[in-house]
Amino acid sequence: MSEAVFLKGVLAVLSPMSREDYQVHYQRWINDREVVRYLVRGTQPMSVESMGRLYDAMEANPGEFELCVRDAKSGAPIGITGLHSIQAAARSAEFRVLLGEKDFWGRGIGREVLQLMVAYGMEMLNLNKVWLGVSTENQRALRSYLNCGFVEEGTLRQEVFRNGRYYDVRRMSMLRDEYLQRVEQWPTFTSIQTQLRPSA
Ligand SMILES: CC(C)(COP(=O)(O)OP(=O)(O)OC[C@H]1O[C@@H](n2cnc3c(N)ncnc32)[C@H](O)[C@@H]1OP(=O)(O)O)[C@@H](O)C(=O)NCCC(=O)NCCS
Repeated sequence: MSEAVFLKGVLAVLSPMSREDYQVHYQRWINDREVVRYLVRGTQPMSVESMGRLYDAMEANPGEFELCVRDAKSGAPIGITGLHSIQAAARSAEFRVLLGEKDFWGRGIGREVLQLMVAYGMEMLNLNKVWLGVSTENQRALRSYLNCGFVEEGTLRQEVFRNGRYYDVRRMSMLRDEYLQRVEQWPTFTSIQTQLRPSA
């Protein structure tokens, strides 16, 4: 794989997201109704030009960053992940993930990406809390987050309107103490230790 690797997992690697990744791959994923079924994004058609503007806005915002999720074997781009709304005082950030290549769903990649991004946030950004919002009907995502040890905080009623109806959103989070209790049980722990705790 020629692209720089930022974080390496067992199933997936995370590499810097380029403008081209946005315009070639993310544009296709965001316009796929099945992929964005439960998301806020994807309600408007996104052209190559609008994806370029979205990328520029993301790059200019110090409170967020995104990474390209690649299949560890082939290096092919399969999705996007990121930390958003990074708050210095509260030491918190919002986690987001989208696997745009549907053949890769249900193989444990979403769970691995969450583990890598939480570990990065805790070990390198010194975060105290990583939180996320997920549709209460997005069963695959909910299972994946609960399996990692994310805790339910509450339900935002009729928070998202799409597909002609409202969806409730569950707010979930992991605190630093919870992360420290969990991380050694994660299959990604060895790669986290090697990359993020090299002197441990
Ligand atoms: C949601 C998403 C990130 C999950 O990643 P993933 O790699 O597909 O999920 P994982 O393999 O890590 O975990 C899926 C879990 O749901 C289960 N699952 C799979 N298909 C399911 C289905 N149709 N219904 C219910 N559970 C399902 C799996 O068995 C697994 O649970 P287990 O580990 O207890 O067996 C990914 O599917 C995705 O990006 N979807 C489209 C965009 C999206 O919804 N993003 C999330 C926004 S909050």
